Amino acid sequence: MKSFYLTTAIDYVNGLPHLGHAYEKVLTDVIARFHRQLGDRVHFLTGVDEHGQKVQQAAQARGIPPQQYVDETGAEFRALLPLLNISNDDFIRTTEARHQQVVRRLLQQLFDQGEIYQAEYKGFYSTLAEQFLQEKDRLPDGSWPEIFGEVTGITETNYFFKLRKYQDWLVDYITQHGDFIFPRFRQKQVLEFLKEPLNDLCISRPRDRLAWGIPLPFDPNYVTYVWFDALVNYYSAVADTGQWPADIHVIGKDILIPAHAIYWPVMLHALGLPLPKQLLVHGWWSLNDAKMSKSKGNVVVPSDYTGEFGVDALRYFLIREMNVGQDSDFSRAQFLVRYNSELANNLGNLVNRTLNMTTRFGAGVIPAAGPAADAEQELHALWEKTREEVIPLCEGFQFHTALERTMHFVTATNAYIEKRAPWKLGKSAEAADQALLRTSLATMAEALRLAVALLQAVMPAAAARINGVLGYTPGPVWRDELAWGTRLTGAKVAEALVLFPRPAPAAPPAPKS
Ligand code: ME8
Ligand code: MG
Repeated sequence: MKSFYLTTAIDYVNGLPHLGHAYEKVLTDVIARFHRQLGDRVHFLTGVDEHGQKVQQAAQARGIPPQQYVDETGAEFRALLPLLNISNDDFIRTTEARHQQVVRRLLQQLFDQGEIYQAEYKGFYSTLAEQFLQEKDRLPDGSWPEIFGEVTGITETNYFFKLRKYQDWLVDYITQHGDFIFPRFRQKQVLEFLKEPLNDLCISRPRDRLAWGIPLPFDPNYVTYVWFDALVNYYSAVADTGQWPADIHVIGKDILIPAHAIYWPVMLHALGLPLPKQLLVHGWWSLNDAKMSKSKGNVVVPSDYTGEFGVDALRYFLIREMNVGQDSDFSRAQFLVRYNSELANNLGNLVNRTLNMTTRFGAGVIPAAGPAADAEQELHALWEKTREEVIPLCEGFQFHTALERTMHFVTATNAYIEKRAPWKLGKSAEAADQALLRTSLATMAEALRLAVALLQAVMPAAAARINGVLGYTPGPVWRDELAWGTRLTGAKVAEALVLFPRPAPAAPPAPKS
């Protein structure tokens, strides 16, 4: 068995989780489930990032100790996982001892190796980005870019990690490993960024300014810079288990440069540890074209959608709508379009017809198919094409297209049913019509079973329910399940299943005054 270790970013707990966080979890979960289907031994890690100034400030604002704050807010992030049917194997909090110990061990190692030195820093600091800034970070008009928020001047003695000396190595590494960063256009951005000389990385914060962090092992007057702490979670969660390196880190585009594409590979290289095999960089969900963000408060709350439409409808929408790597704008209207046309009217309809017709014309038992005529052969051929396309699409993270192709097969199956019109065949006493009726019932059920096998990683709960009403338990080898065959012959089906109930029509928009 091949082992496959993948992670999400760990969320800051300085607010409540929104659709962007939900998306990252669902995307990673789909990849995890896809690899389990392929037979890999998957280890899926997610968690929360609990240290740093933002958390300290958020706790202060509420007048409670940071630990209490992270316990409370972290619970909201953790609750998101069952809500979204996420199959993570582990959940890490950066306040846990298992993490803090490893961060301190790695820092001490780098310090002993001479990779860390002390120096006075004079310059500018952005609390929002938790980052030191330089003159070159200013806009041409002398102001600071909005992403840095309020910028203040400081003079401080701190510890620095020798990042700069690894710049050439990093450029070579990224250039030689074309798959390290997906999508490829992000690799170009990183290499572009690396054309400018790097500064050494300040990895400490004086304790009197920031108390909420992991104390440096070699100087208790300082705590660890939040990125040096947070990135290590991927390693600390599996240290000494033999699972490092990760196969994929799934992250959003805002944390690629410099954290994941520069700090993390260099930290690992300096420590003599292998690098993760791939960074999968997704885009942003926006709302009315503004990035959803905790700090701005313009968010979609995942539970609003799972509550109204079910977890699978939200998972389906997120994966169907977004081309991994690009951005997407979220709207209820677009959600409803996909929900109605693709889930309720297409997949839901196929489920209903299969159950209903098998009940009415087959006494509730899926019959054996007779010889395939043209219509059946066409559907078989489309199936072969679909399954051959879908696996490589998923391997290449083109899940939105994989779903589109799968739903196209579902549409074709519904069209097949229209063509065969079992409701007409059922009225005929002719032996040939009765044979064709049995073939059509068997064919629609088998097509549904196969489509479900392809949808299962995205809609695990719906897939289980559909298999359940088909009286079917999938076998252990997923690839084997993809062969068109006779697995359902003789299965006793349920009479009905309402998978995607129609939502109440949207209220008309309020008149603009
Ligand atoms: O950056 N659309 O945490 P975070 C899509 N703690 N993805 C989004 C998004 C949106 N609107 N908003 C946020 C941090 N994300 C650090 C990570 S990893 C060692 C430390 C994504 O809570 C974002 O891109 O700000 C990131 O991958 C994740 O949510 C957590 O963001
Ligand atoms: Mg963020």
